[in-house]
Amino acid sequence: MRPRRAINPKQRIGLILAVSLVLITLLQSSARAIDLHAYWDDRCADCHGHSAAFARKFLTAKDGRLQGHDHVYDLQRFLMNHYLPPDMVAPVTAMLMAQVTTEPQFKERCGRCHETAAALARKALTLRDGVLIDRATGKPTAEFLNGHQGVSAAEVPFFVGVLTRVTREVEGR
Ligand code: HEC
Ligand code: HEC
Repeated sequence: MRPRRAINPKQRIGLILAVSLVLITLLQSSARAIDLHAYWDDRCADCHGHSAAFARKFLTAKDGRLQGHDHVYDLQRFLMNHYLPPDMVAPVTAMLMAQVTTEPQFKERCGRCHETAAALARKALTLRDGVLIDRATGKPTAEFLNGHQGVSAAEVPFFVGVLTRVTREVEGR
């Protein structure tokens, strides 16, 4: 019978490196920014459809808190036990809250050509020092929007506000 081969020092270092790499990758993925809209589409949309439409139809904001029609008593606690890991309850609640308290103007005025605000944000937008810009040109979205498809100067802040929030949500910040 051949004796069992011991691991030589070189192999040992290789093994340690391999394990470290796996650990680092795991740590990075847990800290990675999560695209909230993609998260919803993956895990919630099968049952609830589009997030904003769901929020506006079934949820309300009362005294700065998000309330459900069926779970008026404690929506946060309900969500803890409803398909969401604890660390996702706050970001998802904040997203739904923003949707409940925002008029569905994007859907009505822009949805014909831009499927959703999240899709538009993913495709073309980002934030530079808190200012929403076009990723390709670097130009502020506020300038672009003035006059785009009949958007008036007075309406620009509203749409920039919506798209800024959604860009944050899809970039996970
Ligand atoms: C398998 C289907 C299913 C999935 C997946 C699902 N839900 Fe639900 N959800 C329901 C049902 C059914 C209810 C209402 C019934 C109840 O009282 O439990 C509900 C209720 C809710 C409510 C309260 C609505 C109200 O009127 O009070 C919220 C908010 C909610 N879900 C959020 C989510 C989120 C966020 C996700 C994804 C992380 C998710 N749900 C995934 C089926 C689902
Ligand atoms: C009739 C179709 C149409 C409507 C309605 C429309 N858009 Fe656009 N939008 C476009 C097209 C086409 C482009 C890209 C070409 C261009 O530069 O105009 C674009 C570009 C954009 C861009 C720049 C990012 C990019 O993809 O180049 C933003 C931001 C934008 N639209 C926001 C809006 C908003 C907000 C509304 C609603 C108020 C809206 N759009 C309504 C057709 C439309």
